[in-house]
Amino acid sequence: MLYIRKEEKSDFNDVYNLIKNAFISAEHSDGDEENLVNRLRESKNFVDDLSIVALDDKKIVGYVLFTKVKIAEDYALALAPIAVCPEYQNKGIGRALIEYGHNKARELGFSHSIVLGDENLYRKFGYKTSEDYNVFAPFDVPKENFMILKLIEDKKDLNGIVKYAKEFNI
Ligand SMILES: CC(C)(COP(=O)(O)OP(=O)(O)OC[C@H]1O[C@@H](n2cnc3c(N)ncnc32)[C@H](O)[C@@H]1OP(=O)(O)O)[C@@H](O)C(=O)NCCC(=O)NCCS
Repeated sequence: MLYIRKEEKSDFNDVYNLIKNAFISAEHSDGDEENLVNRLRESKNFVDDLSIVALDDKKIVGYVLFTKVKIAEDYALALAPIAVCPEYQNKGIGRALIEYGHNKARELGFSHSIVLGDENLYRKFGYKTSEDYNVFAPFDVPKENFMILKLIEDKKDLNGIVKYAKEFNI
């Protein structure tokens, strides 16, 4: 049965290998996603509760991380990366991880999450073109691939350029 929980120290190795494997066949990859996660765990922008694993029995089959970013003077989150074991893809694990992460983020009071990625995938979770909401990427990217989701409706809208943790090397 699928079980989702916060990542623990003893998961680090499995998570590293999982991300590496998942991104080998990914459409878009810089080949550094597993190392990015290692760097982000040491970052001041790391949010312990938002480093999340999915388990099938005791095997780690999925991972998602949300880290803090700034949009002008306000904090928000960035979803990056997400990875599901190739042989476990298209079974709803990615969805379960993202929804768990969004709910935890709401509990923690984060009002917005941004993501860089496939618009057809993230649209399914409510993400919309960020430029239409006056939130901009700090790099050149097709506008439809930089997206934002408002997690808490009654919080104020955020506007500005997104500033990632320095560990992203952007
Ligand atoms: C992207 C990824 C995390 C999706 O995980 P998954 O467990 O296969 O996804 P799910 O089965 O939960 O699918 C959730 C929804 O997204 C859709 N979806 C999944 N992958 C998609 C893709 N690459 N493009 C568009 N839609 C996608 C599914 O059809 C499903 O839609 P539905 O709920 O309307 O039926 C997984 O394919 C993966 O690890 N890929 C390699 C790494 C990667 O590319 N990460 C994303 C970088 S932007």
